[in-house]
Amino acid sequence: MPIETTASVIAEVPGDAELLAVPYASDLAPAVELHLPVPDLLAHYEAKGEAGEIVEVPVARAGGVGRVLLYGVGDGSPRALRRAAAALTRKVKGRDTLTVVTPEGDVAVFAEAALLAAYSFKIGAAGKKPVRALVFAGADEAAVRRAAGVAGAVALARDLANTPSSVKDPSWLAERAAETGVPVEVWDEERLRADGFGGILAVGKGSARPPRLIKLSYTPAEPAERHVVLVGKGITFDSGGLSLKPNENMKTQKTDMAGGAVVIAVLGALAALKAPVRVTGLVAAAENMPSGTAQRPSDVITPYGGRTVEVLNTDAEGRLVLADALAYADAVLDPDAVVDVATLTGAITVALGRHVGAVYSTDDVLAKELVEAGQAADDRLWRMPLIEDYAPALESSIADLANVEAGSRFGAGSITAALFLREFAGRRPWAHLDIAGVGRSTVDEGTLSKGATGFGVRVLLEWLTRG
Ligand code: BES
Ligand code: MN
Ligand code: ZN
Repeated sequence: MPIETTASVIAEVPGDAELLAVPYASDLAPAVELHLPVPDLLAHYEAKGEAGEIVEVPVARAGGVGRVLLYGVGDGSPRALRRAAAALTRKVKGRDTLTVVTPEGDVAVFAEAALLAAYSFKIGAAGKKPVRALVFAGADEAAVRRAAGVAGAVALARDLANTPSSVKDPSWLAERAAETGVPVEVWDEERLRADGFGGILAVGKGSARPPRLIKLSYTPAEPAERHVVLVGKGITFDSGGLSLKPNENMKTQKTDMAGGAVVIAVLGALAALKAPVRVTGLVAAAENMPSGTAQRPSDVITPYGGRTVEVLNTDAEGRLVLADALAYADAVLDPDAVVDVATLTGAITVALGRHVGAVYSTDDVLAKELVEAGQAADDRLWRMPLIEDYAPALESSIADLANVEAGSRFGAGSITAALFLREFAGRRPWAHLDIAGVGRSTVDEGTLSKGATGFGVRVLLEWLTRG
């Protein structure tokens, strides 16, 4: 399926560009000489210099009329620059090339936001295409390259998650992983069975399209001291299984592999961004469907490592496939830290809403690093507690663990899900990102587009490239 590309980046100087954007601050003075009465124009349109403000001025150009977009940058903070940049590329939808005189401040932040706001995902529909090319005039080339690398990875994660589940199944996801350029290893059903991946197999067995475990490996050019494993939930469609979801909740579940998409996109971007750590990605991919071969509520399964789990609700499937991948990472890959990313629980949307993701961790340093990286990268994370008192929620009378709380004594669905995962992560520093609330956007504004957000790509790339 052809996927629209986002804006490309060419480093060039403005000249007499047909479509030129020029920043101004609150003193209403433009950043470059324009042969236009800029302060008068801005005063006329009652511009205040706020981020997001754009004043459009037609100008004479060789062979016709061009346009200058005067754009406000507010206080020049990263937040203001993101707003200004997103407003600009949204304004020039359908046009060919926008030449932007970049503002003072963090050019990478500005360029990244401009590119993210230009993202669109359409299948065969008409409507305006994003601007074809962005020229960041006079900008630091390395900063623009970094921005393009990050924004490209976010766009890939969005594309994968926005793709309909009629197209994407576990083996499709494995093929996309193989296209990232890093070495990829794939477990098919037979090999999953031979190696004891009982969680992925149990979730996948209701579907006509068999599950896969996908492993991606990134090795930096210089020998690395640290090895990080990223684990992604790759449910290519979550119907709930026999614990079937109502349609209202089911219709958003093609993005239930958003965590896996983040892992694939991050692994694909590490080389260009020169990440100094070794990173292994694991995507636990399955389609959760109801059928005559599906697992039943009350079945007992054995995830990787041999402990038994009573499946009381087949809709709590993410934790079953993640259990396999986490236990495998701990037992075989010998990482210094493990971070999983998953659209795990509806409950986290109640707790933190659609703008802030959850991070749970057994390690204070790791939690702090991720929260800080998230703040810097604009994938905001809030640390949630692993409340020990709630651990009995997952006791089973016949197996080592239950996959959900049988009654409703403890509640806290996102926390008990995290406690379940902790059982399989071993004693290594581990963090879990519950992105169920932030993985999809209901609005098309700023750097967000309706549908998959790619949340997780920016925070992980920021964290992994800090060294
Ligand atoms: N994929 C869902 C979580 C989800 C819900 C993601 C809404 C995005 C939007 C997950 O597999 C699920 O179904 N979780 C259940 C757990 C419950 C059965 C304990 C939930 O949140 O209801
Ligand atoms: Mn589910
Ligand atoms: Zn799910």
